[in-house]
Amino acid sequence: MSVPEVTRTTHLVSAEPARQPIAPAPRIPESQEASPTILIVDGLKLNRDLLKAVLRSSSYRILEATRPSEASAILEMETVDLVVLDLMMPELSGPEFCRQLKANRKTQLIPLLILTSIQGVENEIAGLDSGADEFLLKPLHPALVRTRIQTMLRHKRTVDSLEEAETILFALAQSVEQRDKYTAGHCQRLSMYSVSLGEMLGLNSEQLKALKRGGYLHDIGKICVPDSVLYHNGPLSEEQWHVMRSHTIIGESICHPMKSLSQVLPIIRSHHERWDGSGYPDGLAGEGIPLLARVLQLADIYDALTTARPYKPALSGEEAVEIIEEETRRGWRDPELVLVFRELCRNRFDGTLAGEILYDNQQMVTRSLENMQRHLLK
Ligand SMILES: [Fe+2]
Repeated sequence: MSVPEVTRTTHLVSAEPARQPIAPAPRIPESQEASPTILIVDGLKLNRDLLKAVLRSSSYRILEATRPSEASAILEMETVDLVVLDLMMPELSGPEFCRQLKANRKTQLIPLLILTSIQGVENEIAGLDSGADEFLLKPLHPALVRTRIQTMLRHKRTVDSLEEAETILFALAQSVEQRDKYTAGHCQRLSMYSVSLGEMLGLNSEQLKALKRGGYLHDIGKICVPDSVLYHNGPLSEEQWHVMRSHTIIGESICHPMKSLSQVLPIIRSHHERWDGSGYPDGLAGEGIPLLARVLQLADIYDALTTARPYKPALSGEEAVEIIEEETRRGWRDPELVLVFRELCRNRFDGTLAGEILYDNQQMVTRSLENMQRHLLK
């Protein structure tokens, strides 16, 4: 039994109700849109006032904190575009606070500027090493401070726009999933399964991040596949298959402009390749198929088999793995990866597998893991 490539549902089209004219949303005032927010963290009022005076000529929204804990409370509530902090502060040093901010997902992309009157290259190194983006020595030259801050804010705007573009892509991918109520939650589970397998293989954090994103983005190209093909009831014609297969290449081209998704592209393009070269779109075979694509493919098949669809019930984890093994014997899947995946399924995904010695050759599993890890280190 092969994995169903197409979700087959009876597609009912209902008459769309007459649309009411939509009142335009109130526009946010220009000044509110355009003013970046700067948070100054300094224990001395004199220093804060001095910096405010330097920045007065620009239309910034300035927030102030006297200590890191106060700054953290503000950062929890406000959207801040830049933090300017002193090297020496109560509670935490500047570098320690920088480290804390860079470790927090909510604040990690906010640029940090350290100001200090303490001379010494070792302070500068410690500051930059902790994640601060810039370092300025006092006495401050007003023009230099303004220029540096403008540059940092410009960079922040670029990062924001990239983040927004990525968010839009993920929303697009979600809309693909939501076209079919029977696949709800598929992307999230897929991310979870493939990251678990990636962890078992000892993949690095960048590869795991790519798998997590790949779980959501792998089928984004289906946005271009019409409902008449995606939900076709019955076997697809050759022409329909051609359209269906194109989702891999279209998905890759949608995500290609995003540099941050470069490691996800091979997953999107190659997640329907087969070990014996009979897959699509490129007919890649064996280790010529990118490893991350092979990992995500197993997770994809497993989830498709273990969830109910209108034309089939949900299989148990054990049954799903048996089908994947049958496909491996047929030459479609990576045999060593399947061994590791079986072990993962037995331990993590499905309680019914736990404790059963369905695959009892532990040494073979260990050897497969070692082979995979050696391959990764090549
Ligand atoms: Fe796909």
